[in-house]
Amino acid sequence: MSQTKKATAVAPSNIAFVKYWGARDLERVVPENPSVSMTLSTCVSRCTVEHLPGETGEHEIRWRPGTGAGLETPPPAFSERIRAHLDRLRDHFDCGGRFRLATENSFPAAAGLASSASGFSAVTLAVTGALGREVDGAERSDLARRSGSGSASRSVFGGYVRWPGDGLTGHTGDDSTCPAVQILPASHWNLRDVIALVESGPKEVSSLDGHRRARTSRHFEARLTHLPRRFDAVCRALEARDFEAFGREVEAEAIELHTIAMTSEPPIYYWKPATVAVLEAVRHLRRAGMPAWSTMDAGANVHVICEPESEDAVAERLAEVPGVVQVIRDGVGDGPKTFTDPASDEHLF
Ligand code: PMV
Repeated sequence: MSQTKKATAVAPSNIAFVKYWGARDLERVVPENPSVSMTLSTCVSRCTVEHLPGETGEHEIRWRPGTGAGLETPPPAFSERIRAHLDRLRDHFDCGGRFRLATENSFPAAAGLASSASGFSAVTLAVTGALGREVDGAERSDLARRSGSGSASRSVFGGYVRWPGDGLTGHTGDDSTCPAVQILPASHWNLRDVIALVESGPKEVSSLDGHRRARTSRHFEARLTHLPRRFDAVCRALEARDFEAFGREVEAEAIELHTIAMTSEPPIYYWKPATVAVLEAVRHLRRAGMPAWSTMDAGANVHVICEPESEDAVAERLAEVPGVVQVIRDGVGDGPKTFTDPASDEHLF
């Protein structure tokens, strides 16, 4: 390839209903347990990549503050992780040269809103687009996973996604693949995610460190024992659109992840006082007859899952909780989009 080529990818974040927490092989990003998530539509990373085939030297990486709160600085280790992923993709595609990259988020980064999922999914798709390579969903997912962010493997698909797609067998060799797969399209069930932001700055402990410490919790083995049942229950409830059965498992799962984090050595406390206040407000909503369930990733913010008819009331209630700085309304989406040679993204460089 001799011509400079450019592409932009817009990739959404995702929220896991059964969480990836702990890795069999953190280096190769092989999880301890399967996870299942919903790809969002409003919380996105937008990444433009230009391939400079004949050039040598460092990649150029630019962070653009986006439109949400708390976006003035990139997440910790941002440039090193992106640079390493660009090197990895260059090796994979054997394309030589170097890349110019600019990326921005529509939401606060590194605060437990899965900015690494959307970010690395966007980088992977933008590079693939800039190189003009045809790759199928499994390869895209596997490449995104190899960024080090396992959840990025799920963000390359829309709707409801499980990772690994084929269960957890034999993903340990040097060249093993471990892609995610879509289990249901977005059109299957219009679930909403009303996000109560209680902090917009980066969290103190990265999810990578969380995965590293997971096994030090005495509760971790117990989690692995009962997780297959929970995983099946969540998938069945999604399939049947059974909101009550779904919500019960999903909320308990999120509390369990944080129990593991809080009982790891050293312990990780992601919650803030307002996190607990939101969890309580959601329980009160349910008692008042409003079906809504909480979940959280590795951060203080709370994702409140509901159906469309409850969304307004849930958003209004969450905005009143002391300590909630912003309410973001999101919901299931169709997944990423890639554009080639986008003149509209000139401003990014
Ligand atoms: O993809 P990572 O390494 O950032 O880990 C994601 C961890 C959680 O968001 C807490 C759970 C998940 O499955 O998304």
